[in-house]
Amino acid sequence: MRQAGRYLAEYRDTRAKAGSFMGLATNTDFATEVTLQPIDRYGLDAAILFSDILTVPDAMGLGLSFVNGEGPKFERHVRDEASVALLKVPDMDKLRYVFDAVTSIRKALNGRVPLIGFTGSPWTLACYMVEGGSSSDYRAVKSLMYQRPDLMHQILSVNAEAVAAYLNAQIAAGAQAVMIFDSWGGVLADGAFQEFSLAYTKQVLEKTTRTHEGQTIPRIVFTKGGGQWLGDMTALNCDVLGVDWTVNLQRARALVGDRFALQGNLDPMVLFADPASVAKQARRVLDDFGQPHTGTGCGATHIFNLGHGINQHTPPENVATLVETVHEYSRQMRR
Ligand code: CP3
Repeated sequence: MRQAGRYLAEYRDTRAKAGSFMGLATNTDFATEVTLQPIDRYGLDAAILFSDILTVPDAMGLGLSFVNGEGPKFERHVRDEASVALLKVPDMDKLRYVFDAVTSIRKALNGRVPLIGFTGSPWTLACYMVEGGSSSDYRAVKSLMYQRPDLMHQILSVNAEAVAAYLNAQIAAGAQAVMIFDSWGGVLADGAFQEFSLAYTKQVLEKTTRTHEGQTIPRIVFTKGGGQWLGDMTALNCDVLGVDWTVNLQRARALVGDRFALQGNLDPMVLFADPASVAKQARRVLDDFGQPHTGTGCGATHIFNLGHGINQHTPPENVATLVETVHEYSRQMRR
């Protein structure tokens, strides 16, 4: 959804061989192959593990499948006292296939670019667990949150612990940075966001390993629709804040200061325009952030990224234009 995916013919071929999304994700060789496909094609600066945020609730026993054209579906959902009481942190051995993929990808990359591991945030995972799949109105998860906040907190506590263990195992297997996707944090009301999303992302960060084999593991927190809470997010113990396209990077930079790098924030729909417009919009994002820092280490720098997943109908050649423009223009800016 971020780099790999159905917009690439080579991905569709490997997926057909694997038979299903989970067949692809649970096979070390296939997962390695599709992780490297966009790296080989575009010369991107980092790889992101091929897996999904929903592997964790699947390992909790909820029964994940991806029905063609319908998105993710769980066999069981979590909506009442009885199903919440059954929830527990899964045995990380059930997710061994993810950690094996991390190790295999690191080997295949052989130092070409760093590998980013990832997870869903406790809140974003809870959305899928309560709804039983994707949702347009978040009716079930919000009903539970407003009516039985105690049950909601119970789900989120289990998720926070599970997700931290999941990231730690990815780091132990060789992930060189980790990203937390709070893709649905932005559907919450002010107040609810801080209580049901941010507080648990904070817990995850507190429980996540800071270094591995002498290297600091940078942590990225991306909240789609979270621009108005960037001030609250500066309380997080992470290195990078990911933002979507509704955020002005110059103002965000002024707000977060030197403590955080910013990641983002091109609207993925820009990729449906003609190449000249794609290039123009990419330069606009870089200009919005402005001159990056020239020193070493973390700090007020910018990591170019999309503001959300890549659409399956995206023309692949426009991604080539995007990557070339970002490389060329950002090098020019750093001179
Ligand atoms: O390169 C990569 O894309 C890395 C792997 C990756 C996937 N999903 C693979 C995937 C990552 C980082 C994700 C994250 C993810 N998964 C998010 C966060 C997205 C963001 O930017 O905020 C979310 C919300 C999910 C849950 C999920 N997985 C949904 C809603 C869907 C269906 C989407 C669709 O377009 O149908 C998926 C499936 C999925 N995960 C695909 C990929 C490549 C496409 C499905 C397929 O091949 O059948």
